Amino acid sequence: MDLLGSGREADVYAIGEGRVLRRYRRGDDATAEARLMSHLAAHGFPVPQVHSANGADMIMERLDGPTMADAFAAGHLGVDDGAAILAGLHEHLHRLPSRSGRDSILHRDLHPENVMLTTRGPVVIDWHNAAEGRPAVDVCLTAVIIAQVAADPGHPHAGAATAFLGAFLTRVGGEQLDGLGEALEIRRADPSLTAAGAAGLAAAVTPLIRGAVS
Ligand SMILES: Nc1ncnc2c1ncn2[C@@H]1O[C@H](COP(=O)(O)OP(=O)(O)O)[C@@H](O)[C@H]1O
Ligand SMILES: [Mg+2]
Repeated sequence: MDLLGSGREADVYAIGEGRVLRRYRRGDDATAEARLMSHLAAHGFPVPQVHSANGADMIMERLDGPTMADAFAAGHLGVDDGAAILAGLHEHLHRLPSRSGRDSILHRDLHPENVMLTTRGPVVIDWHNAAEGRPAVDVCLTAVIIAQVAADPGHPHAGAATAFLGAFLTRVGGEQLDGLGEALEIRRADPSLTAAGAAGLAAAVTPLIRGAVS
């Protein structure tokens, strides 16, 4: 099996016939995520087609094209075009019917590494963190994730992330920042943050985010 990609949670292998196997390294359950992806596909939202899910494994359509992050790095996608795509995906997702019928479906990890730019258009992957809630929280989670990169002086894409944050927040509108408090709480619980990183998260990213909309 050819390893196609590897993120924090999963390894993704090409298995032939236009399909990939995505396997959680720590054995998380992929079946709920697969059901959500089928619900999204049935409502016309761009996700990889799921063929089957069993325990930590999901077999799905192999997408062509790079991630949005790779397209930025290669100079094939500009900051404004990327911001328009990401803002459009949020808007599209949040107007779909949720399964509870109350809140909206939120991806909660919608950033340039989880969008693939395919010949059928942008497709959203990695639904591990999805839950229902208020759309502004999802938008602010994206802003916090981008601002974490922008706030890290050692990160090779810190400068690009600052520009991208500004373009994204201009698109979505400053009123979305009423989800920021909840988004920071969700991000603080992220197991990949150190205790110091979690404690300093709000102070590190809030000025960047608020500054981008003023
Ligand atoms: N359906 C797919 N087709 C082709 N490549 C994929 C597909 N799904 C994921 N990948 C590749 O695998 C990488 C990791 O997948 P992802 O679902 O984001 O896992 P993680 O939770 O570990 O971030 C992606 O960045 C992408 O390069
Ligand atoms: Mg990912």
